[in-house]
Amino acid sequence: MRYYLTTPIYYVNAAPHIGHAYTTIAADVLVRHHRQRGEETFFLTGTDENASKVYRVAEEQGQDPKAYVDEIVEQWRELPERVGAEYDFFIRTTDEGHHRFVQEFLQRIYDNGDIYQDVYSGLYCVGCEEFKSEADLVDGLCPEHGIPPERIEEKNYFFRLSAYQDRLLELYDERPDFVLPRHRYNEARSFIEGGLEDFSVSRAGQPWGIPIPWDEEQVTYVWVDALINYLSALSYAREGEDLVERFWPHVRHLLGKDILRFHCVYWPALLLAAGYEVPKQLFVHGWLLLDDRKISKSLGNAVDPLDLVDVYGSDAVRFWALRSVSFGQD
Ligand code: ME8
Ligand code: MG
Repeated sequence: MRYYLTTPIYYVNAAPHIGHAYTTIAADVLVRHHRQRGEETFFLTGTDENASKVYRVAEEQGQDPKAYVDEIVEQWRELPERVGAEYDFFIRTTDEGHHRFVQEFLQRIYDNGDIYQDVYSGLYCVGCEEFKSEADLVDGLCPEHGIPPERIEEKNYFFRLSAYQDRLLELYDERPDFVLPRHRYNEARSFIEGGLEDFSVSRAGQPWGIPIPWDEEQVTYVWVDALINYLSALSYAREGEDLVERFWPHVRHLLGKDILRFHCVYWPALLLAAGYEVPKQLFVHGWLLLDDRKISKSLGNAVDPLDLVDVYGSDAVRFWALRSVSFGQD
């Protein structure tokens, strides 16, 4: 048996908080269980560094973006160590091996004819790093980040997500446990059923990110770059050894409900387009809340997990994380 588990790769626009510790702890508990059963396991975690919001924070602090990420990543490396999570590889999306892999992956989709050029005109929430429709907003603001989206008009490359609607529905029908818990499966499936729109896989006029291989004027949209980490890491985590054959598609993704659409809809479609198998399973958990709001870097209501570990020790924090919340719920 092979068991490959991933956490999301976290944005390095601020320090880690208890929400990130939560996912990392849950993942570690799962992997330890499978390791104890004698399965061949691989546990991946890491950081998402090519985001616009990361670039902006570096700018605000008057720092070169690479210098900024190299410095703050140390706090993110400390997170798994301090909560006792034994990962096999820590990926950074600024890694050379990741860049190479993302470019190859995109080129495969481009060569298969599923990427075309168009003009994007609309709204973008830099908190979510996501294009928004009017229907996504509440009183003109992003409901998660409480900020107005920015108006953008630029030439972009688009992925033909719409062409994958039927294949995704077939996948969901064939595999009723593709997404857990069940209500998250239903949420993802009804989003697909509601009709899929093509989405932009590039950003123009940004100096920070992975250049599009056939048009160096553009960088890869950060979400596409980030999702590919789950595969790219296997290609260079062990020198002289390609783990892709060994662990793909024996992969399970653990994530919060904030990023369900990217993982449960966009990611399987991108994989199919690039000629890879889809993951074995995705588990979507809920949020740790404070006064009914998501604990978040952007909202600034964060609790530092390392402070908790200092006071109570990692075992107490681990026990609390999995005991106090019924897994999957907020
Ligand atoms: O979304 N409660 O990174 P991110 C529970 N870089 N879990 C929480 C939480 C909370 N209040 N806050 C955060 C990104 N999390 C992208 C991911 S993956 C290819 C790219 C956890 O720094 C939870 O796992 O915003 C959530 O999905 C993740 O951190 C988001 O971290
Ligand atoms: Mg977030």
